Amino acid sequence: MSIGPATGSASIGSATGSATMGRVLFVGAGPGAADLLTFRAAKAIADADVVIWAASLVHPDVLVHARDDAEIVDSAQLPMEGVLPYYERAVAEGLTIARIHSGDPALWGALQEQLDRCVEMGLDTEVIPGVSSFSAVAAAVGRELTIPEVAQSVVLTRLGGGKTPMPPGEEVREFARHGTTMALFLSAARSGQLQDELVEGGYPEDTPCVVAYQCSWPDELIVRCSLGELSATVKAHKLWKHTLVLVGPALAAGGTRSHLYHPGHFHGFRRAEPSARRSLREARRSS
Ligand SMILES: C[S@@+](CC[C@H](N)C(=O)[O-])C[C@H]1O[C@@H](n2cnc3c(N)ncnc32)[C@H](O)[C@@H]1O
Repeated sequence: MSIGPATGSASIGSATGSATMGRVLFVGAGPGAADLLTFRAAKAIADADVVIWAASLVHPDVLVHARDDAEIVDSAQLPMEGVLPYYERAVAEGLTIARIHSGDPALWGALQEQLDRCVEMGLDTEVIPGVSSFSAVAAAVGRELTIPEVAQSVVLTRLGGGKTPMPPGEEVREFARHGTTMALFLSAARSGQLQDELVEGGYPEDTPCVVAYQCSWPDELIVRCSLGELSATVKAHKLWKHTLVLVGPALAAGGTRSHLYHPGHFHGFRRAEPSARRSLREARRSS
């Protein structure tokens, strides 16, 4: 790979005279570790004439998939206007651009504004999903976020008061009233407010929390604490960015057995075992 003008082979106008359409692939790079990319994401990076990535959010290991002659652009210092000229070049030169996003591009990736501009420009586009940081953190601590009869929903949100205003009704305090599992992105810099809103919403102070910094990066730090200790924990480790907080009773609960995998449950691919089916029915009747 090289930093400089693209030397990719795609061009406007081929030997047969038909124009090659430029395309932009929005690639979910996962939480950091290069082996948490999907095969499709790695292939998209390998296909690209230009790879645009944010050094502040994406681990450089993901660039190992880029071609030696690909042009690598760090967008960390660029506003959207700084990225648009690359999309315009993709139109003019029929280039393939891989635009790398951390985690899954559908979450806080400024995806839509870019996608809409690319479509307006007549570019072919594709979104390649990635492993979101909340999934990576759950895996790192070996926890299911949806424990039967304890928590069956996961709220993905962020604290208000940051750079982007929150729509009304989406305050952490309001979501906390559900008492289910929450994943808090982009919120570590205001950990005092985070803790207060979670408690005001109704979580008991002993609700388990996981604080994860740079999950799957070489300097990953993952700490478990109770909600009452959340702000002190975040501050003690001086965490303010690249940090995700999980909170909710599912982080410590065993719960009841999932009906889906019970031998008494049947579906299109599996028969129920009759005596297990009877006991499952009785358990449902008495609940
Ligand atoms: C701009 S958002 C992007 C989220 C991303 N699209 C995703 O699906 O994870 C950045 C926030 O995601 C969380 N985050 C992303 N990668 C992380 C990681 N490796 N470890 C912990 N938190 C991470 C942090 O809350 C960070 O402030």
